[in-house]
Amino acid sequence: MFKNQSFNYAVFGNPIDHSKSPKIHSLFAKKTGIVHTYKSVNVPLDKFNIVLKNFFKQGGQGANITAPFKQEAYLFCDKLTERAKIAKSVNTFKKMDDQYILGDNTDGIGLLSDLIRLNFIKKKCSILIIGAGGAVKGVLFPLLSFGCSIFISNRTFSNAKKLVSQFHEYGDINVFDKNLLNIKYFDLIINATSKFIEKKDDFVPLSVVSSKTCFYDMNYQIDNTIFINWCIKIGANFFSNGIGMLVFQAAHSFFLWYNVLPKTGDIIDILKK
Ligand code: ATR
Repeated sequence: MFKNQSFNYAVFGNPIDHSKSPKIHSLFAKKTGIVHTYKSVNVPLDKFNIVLKNFFKQGGQGANITAPFKQEAYLFCDKLTERAKIAKSVNTFKKMDDQYILGDNTDGIGLLSDLIRLNFIKKKCSILIIGAGGAVKGVLFPLLSFGCSIFISNRTFSNAKKLVSQFHEYGDINVFDKNLLNIKYFDLIINATSKFIEKKDDFVPLSVVSSKTCFYDMNYQIDNTIFINWCIKIGANFFSNGIGMLVFQAAHSFFLWYNVLPKTGDIIDILKK
C-alpha cells in the first residue's frame, strides 16, 4: 500500500467515499496558497495501525481520522494535545520535526465555532445533548470550557452516566432525567446519535422545547437528516445540520499543520449547494 505515495495529507476512515474532507482541504489550499496533496483512504477495519505507520513512513505529514477509528487513533499517537487527552479521542495527526506523531481533537472546537457562527450558543446557556458515544466525547470539553451547562440524554442510561463521570471535573454536566421534564427549557438541543438510526417519532419530550430553542445535528447529508425532519415537524424556528462543524474542524486541523486558520464562511456555502 502507498507504493510511490504521491500525497502527504489524507483522511482515513471506513467507509470514506462520502468524505468531504479532500474537497474542503483543496479549497483551503487555494484560499491560503499553501499547496498540499490530500486524499481519502479507506482503511480495512483491522488494519488501522499498519496503514497509518506505512503512511507516515512513506512521507505522510498529517492526517484526519474519522469513524470508526478515533479511539484507535488516540492510542496510536506519541503525544497528545490537552483537548485530545481529555476527550480520549483523536481526529488529527501531525508529524512533528523530531518525527513523533502528535494527536489532536478538533471536533469540539469545530462544533463550538459553528454554534457561535449560527448564534446558537451563549456562555452559561443550557444544552441537552442526545447521545453518549464517541462523537460526544470529542466535543464536551470545549463546550464545558465555554461555560455552558450540559445534560446528556441517551438510550442507554449507564453510558450517559459514564460520560458524566468522565467529564464532571471540567464543568457543569449532568444526566438528563425525567424530573427535568416539566421544569426546564433548553436553549440548545444537539443530536449526536449515529447517523444511521431508524426514523424516530420524537428525539426529546416537547415539554423541554421553547420557541427560542435552537437545534443542531452533528450529522450532515445532502438531504435532511432524520433529526432535521423532526425539527421541521415540530415547528422549530432555529436548526442546522453539521456541515459547518465539519468545515471548522477541518480548519482547525489545517491550523495545527500550518499555523494558518483558513476563512470558512464561503466554503460552508459552497458545500451546502
Ligand atoms: P459515534 O462515534 O458516532 O458517537 P457510537 O459511539 O456508536 O457512535 O455512539 C452512537 C450513539 O448513538 C450512542 O449514544 C447510542 O446510544 P447507546 O449508548 O444506547 O448505544 C446512540 N444510538 C444508536 N442508535 C440509536 C437509536 N436507534 N436510538 C437512540 N440512540 C441511538
